[in-house]
Amino acid sequence: MLHAPSVPQCSNILYSSRRVVARILLAVASLLAINDRLAIAVVHDGDHPPGVRALKPAEVYAPSLLPDRIILTWAGDPTTTQSVTWRTSTEVATGKAQIAEATPGPEFAKKAKEQIAESVALKSDLNTAHFHSVTFKELTPGTKYAYRVGDGTNWSEWFQFTTADVLEKPFSFIYFGDAQNDLRSMWSRVIREAYSDAPKAKFLLHAGDLINTAQSDGEWGEWFGAGGWLNAMIPNVPVAGNHEQHKLPEGKTQLTHHWRPQFTLPEHGPEGLEESCYTFEYQNARFIILNSNTKIPEQTKWLDAILSKNTKPWVICSFHHPVFSTAKSRDNAALREAWKPVLDKYRVDLVLQGHDHSYGRTGLDTPSTDPDAKPASAVENVPTGVTHRDDHHGTVYVVSVSGPKMYNITQKPFMVRMGEDTQLYQIITIDGLKLRYEARTANGQIYDAFQLDKAIGEPNRLIEIQPEIEERRRPPATAPTPAPSSNAEAAASPVK
Ligand SMILES: [Fe+2]
Repeated sequence: MLHAPSVPQCSNILYSSRRVVARILLAVASLLAINDRLAIAVVHDGDHPPGVRALKPAEVYAPSLLPDRIILTWAGDPTTTQSVTWRTSTEVATGKAQIAEATPGPEFAKKAKEQIAESVALKSDLNTAHFHSVTFKELTPGTKYAYRVGDGTNWSEWFQFTTADVLEKPFSFIYFGDAQNDLRSMWSRVIREAYSDAPKAKFLLHAGDLINTAQSDGEWGEWFGAGGWLNAMIPNVPVAGNHEQHKLPEGKTQLTHHWRPQFTLPEHGPEGLEESCYTFEYQNARFIILNSNTKIPEQTKWLDAILSKNTKPWVICSFHHPVFSTAKSRDNAALREAWKPVLDKYRVDLVLQGHDHSYGRTGLDTPSTDPDAKPASAVENVPTGVTHRDDHHGTVYVVSVSGPKMYNITQKPFMVRMGEDTQLYQIITIDGLKLRYEARTANGQIYDAFQLDKAIGEPNRLIEIQPEIEERRRPPATAPTPAPSSNAEAAASPVK
């Protein structure tokens, strides 16, 4: 048997002495604070060593000469225009953008055309920055372009986007409910998982409450950081939620001062709702974005006018406060009474909402707001003020959540699928007269799915698709976060 050589006793003493000396030296180093971080990190071997300085939002989200928060949106027709907005420090007085049709090699850059940006200064709670905006126009439909933004000296990398096709080709988009909280640590995985599932999605629709504190520049920094370069490659369609409403000292609320400088959106909504109430067509679908925080009657008329002229077979509406809430205490009766009759009248296909921090999806039949409709004896637990059953208008309503803040739900008989404590994203694909909807969990499992088949002039046919996992409900005894009432949740009161 082979034995390890024994260590002479004097060597043991020497080794032990060296360890003592090393410990003393480390302690002295920490006391002298020669290098705060290194010394303390060595002495205290925990997860959160005391004395390690937390970075301040003002440092992390400071603007610089180099463009950041680069985001594509549409202010005009997605077949021929593309808007881009970005941020720099105030040292950049004139923003510039360059664009060329993308080529297989680097030769596109030699043909790039330059455009001067519109620039505005925004004084936030952390800093003053310049936001720059350009709308590329007269683009060719169905074409891939490369672009970059900067000041002529400091440029972003070249990004690419593709204009919408005029032909009715199949396309997908991604819909997110409230992101709102822990955007950097907990929401980032959702938007990135969604992208990995649908990398060719044509746009990202955010149904309000992108952030929690309307004027927190750090939270907006986290939101932009979570999407990162995706925002510069895939257009975004933002909806204003109640958490994008900033409370003024006199008690009134208004859309955060970040909204208009950082998103370039259509200004064709009712007066006072420029860039928060808008519509656009994407191939064979019309999308209508409403601002459910304010001016409901004005938007009711506007919505009716837009829908009366619509020629697209598919119509999808998105706004923040749900027509049918997932929790009993969070009903939005006034909103439902104002907008549902219009959605019914024009048989809107799909309504994408947020606000309730849970999941709920209806079938084609939902309680009606029409007092002459037949009694809804089969409908129990309907929201306050709703006593009749819809006469099969065929709109599917969805409430979803993508961030980590969760409320509980109240079971509703007209909800086909509900869920609690589940972060989700939705991939919606339109292919001719078929629409496929998939709600996926943050880890990519299909939580809910259905298909709509359209017959023009008739209600849609809905085909349920088997999800991959069971409905997720929190055990009643351990429910940690009851849903607050709709009015209590927000800094701004939701619907008037
Ligand atoms: Fe929310």
